[in-house]
Amino acid sequence: MYIDKSHHLCSVVALVIIAGFLAVVAPREAAAKERGLSDDWRFFKGDVSGAERTDFDDRKWKTVTVPHDWSIMDRAGTKSPFTPEAESGQDSGYLPGGTGWYRRQFILTEEEAAKNVRLNFGAVYMDADIWVNGRHLASHHYGYTAFTVDLTNKVRAGGNVVAVRARHEDPSSRWYAGSGIIQPVALEILNCVHIDPDSVFVTTPVATEKVGKVKVSAQVNHCGTDPRQALLSSRILDGSGAVVASTRAEKRRLSGKPSPWELSVSIENPSLWSLEKPNLYTLVQEVQVDGRVVDERRTRFGIRSITVDAKNGLRLNDRSIVLKGGNIHHDNYMIGAAGFPDADARKVLLMKQAGYNAIRNAHNPASKATLNAADELGMLVINEAFDSWNKHKRAKDYSRFFATDWKADIDSMVISGRNHPSVLFWSIGNEIPEQGTPLGVETAEALTERVRELDPTRPVTQAVSIDPPESAGQYAAIDVAGYNYRSHLFESDHTDYPDRVMYSSESLPKNAFKVWQTVEDMPWVIGDFVWTSVDYLGEAGIGWMGYSQDWQKLGPYPWHLAYCGEIDATGRKRPAAYYREVLWKSALNPISAFVQQPEGTADLPDRHYFKIEPPHLDWSLEDVHPSWTWPGQENKPLTVFVYSEHPEVELFLNGESLGRKAVGEASEYKATYTVPYQPGLLKAVGYNQEREAGSWVLRTAGSPAAAKVYADRHRLQANGLDLAYVSVELTDQNGTPIYARSDDRFVDIQVEGPAELIGVGNGNPMDASSFQSGRKKTFHGRVVAVVRAGTEPGQVTVRVAVEGQPEQQQVLHVTSVDYR
Ligand code: GAL
Repeated sequence: MYIDKSHHLCSVVALVIIAGFLAVVAPREAAAKERGLSDDWRFFKGDVSGAERTDFDDRKWKTVTVPHDWSIMDRAGTKSPFTPEAESGQDSGYLPGGTGWYRRQFILTEEEAAKNVRLNFGAVYMDADIWVNGRHLASHHYGYTAFTVDLTNKVRAGGNVVAVRARHEDPSSRWYAGSGIIQPVALEILNCVHIDPDSVFVTTPVATEKVGKVKVSAQVNHCGTDPRQALLSSRILDGSGAVVASTRAEKRRLSGKPSPWELSVSIENPSLWSLEKPNLYTLVQEVQVDGRVVDERRTRFGIRSITVDAKNGLRLNDRSIVLKGGNIHHDNYMIGAAGFPDADARKVLLMKQAGYNAIRNAHNPASKATLNAADELGMLVINEAFDSWNKHKRAKDYSRFFATDWKADIDSMVISGRNHPSVLFWSIGNEIPEQGTPLGVETAEALTERVRELDPTRPVTQAVSIDPPESAGQYAAIDVAGYNYRSHLFESDHTDYPDRVMYSSESLPKNAFKVWQTVEDMPWVIGDFVWTSVDYLGEAGIGWMGYSQDWQKLGPYPWHLAYCGEIDATGRKRPAAYYREVLWKSALNPISAFVQQPEGTADLPDRHYFKIEPPHLDWSLEDVHPSWTWPGQENKPLTVFVYSEHPEVELFLNGESLGRKAVGEASEYKATYTVPYQPGLLKAVGYNQEREAGSWVLRTAGSPAAAKVYADRHRLQANGLDLAYVSVELTDQNGTPIYARSDDRFVDIQVEGPAELIGVGNGNPMDASSFQSGRKKTFHGRVVAVVRAGTEPGQVTVRVAVEGQPEQQQVLHVTSVDYR
């Protein structure tokens, strides 16, 4: 990718001079090119009049990098982004929205300015207006869909100015949405004759071990009126870059009208895309005019088949699979909703590593980075469009724009996602208020029809939260039935609707066993998606305190995380994730053990901090922890849960057996022990046919004496976007992890060199301190920092100072952008 390193200059004269210089030295680009616009944006929080004007003086505005989320930034004069006054309250985790402006200059050469220029936005939350050179060119309301502003004939050689206003009026959402340009922005410059970027659609109607039939439809555009002779050719590359198929060049006479380009290619013995081996191919389409390549478009795809029916369930490449699913929201916790590609991809990786094989992207289309990561890692995605249609859930939500915008937003989701092999189903909505009514059914039919027009290959689904008989009409409008918290209906609904394919689109972590049984026992139930796999900002406290009698959520300020994630907000697996691994027989951690928090010792408000009057909905599993450090509990009985795939377990405290227990379906793959607390070593051993098959150890930790500091990567590209996650985990002098809250310590993190510290988080749902200051207290012994590469190469030092300990360093290398 070419990265614009142009500096932010106010004088248009200077820009013109630079542009002239570039025109001389820059090589002539034949084909299309994309230029990321990540650095050097100017940002102002609030509304300003005249900020769309080219000559507006933005020198006092802050310089920021995009993706950017202003809601997660410390509020002026404070060291916290949170406020109990935030209008969305618990929904947004006490983080406010508002209005914000962004401006950026970009330089085009004379040649570029004369081409087809597109400005591509990954997402702007929300209600965005775009001006270029003072001219209002677009409004885009939905905060999650990608959109393009056509700048053809609207830009000039030299300096151009794009101005973006985003209006996030509260309350706009039931969860934390973030605010601003939350996904990457790029300029795409195409020659007059080019392949329409949105037109390419690759399908694989035959996908067997023997043959992969690849069908491509696309469209070639010619912006002029003079007919041109073009030569169209294409080839397919495998994962190593080798050409595995190519088509004969085809002559085409192009006039002013778009010209369809259909292809069909066969690949012998293809490497299929699967969850275990996510093999990818790249289609390269080339257009030549007068012997010169004027466009080359690369589209990555996978060869795979998907079938689904109530008898055989879900089959990928003709093999049965079930969906081990988790719901995720789009935020990236300590950096808010800023959708840096590495941050979005990291969530997919965390899920893959924890044994999930499917993601439900709740309740909006997944980012490009999420889908790319899912393609590469072998994860399936239910890509969801909306949380509301005609009727609102929150006064300022998307329903305000639904009637006029839904078609464009569906088009954006399907067109940008349909070449990704990871996309399994299109979901048209979640718990839509009008579900089951004539309006709900009619809307579902319209949405489904549009999805099918754009992609007839994938089933359409919807997450429904009503019971039969009202649900019947809604389900009849779609292909696959998503049930939110309704696994108890799977049996009776199957009797009434034997052809219906069902899955739990949402379920409670505490019901993991019960729901998973339905997947194992009922062929028509194809999977379960827990709410949620990764923790998220907003819906504060639901995972902990649940819902009260009147179904109000209970997390008051300063609660801000939902705290229902099986993986915490920093990426650490919580006990529920280990339990799920056992239920799925993932063989990742076939045995694990956790200890229940003794009553009255919680340093978060107790699980039942508020008066609980039935009906009360508890969300999570027992309040258990990976710790055998419980000072003050000596000789008092503690409850220990052992999760095991092995049929028999034995627990030992300081070498003494506390007895063997059988574990299996009847015990929900758990064994419970009551253990009088003594510091030392608690060891759970699993047996298979009398032979020791695995073990899990919890050790009492001494005081914090050291810290394990590690980065998830040490090389980053100088593209302004690459991220390294640096974890800091306290240990005692023997390396035993520190977990007790009384042993938490402050950590100060600083970054030196061509990179920036953009967030530090600890996963504590109540710690309302700054994410940007570099100072954070550990939570259960841990903090995680996010370092973003700048646009210059060089060495970066991350300095980590844990209270009471000598400073440690991590060295990262930012390398020049790889212009592949
Ligand atoms: C569901 C909803 C989710 C989330 C969850 C927990 O009903 O679909 O978006 O709100 O409840 O509160």
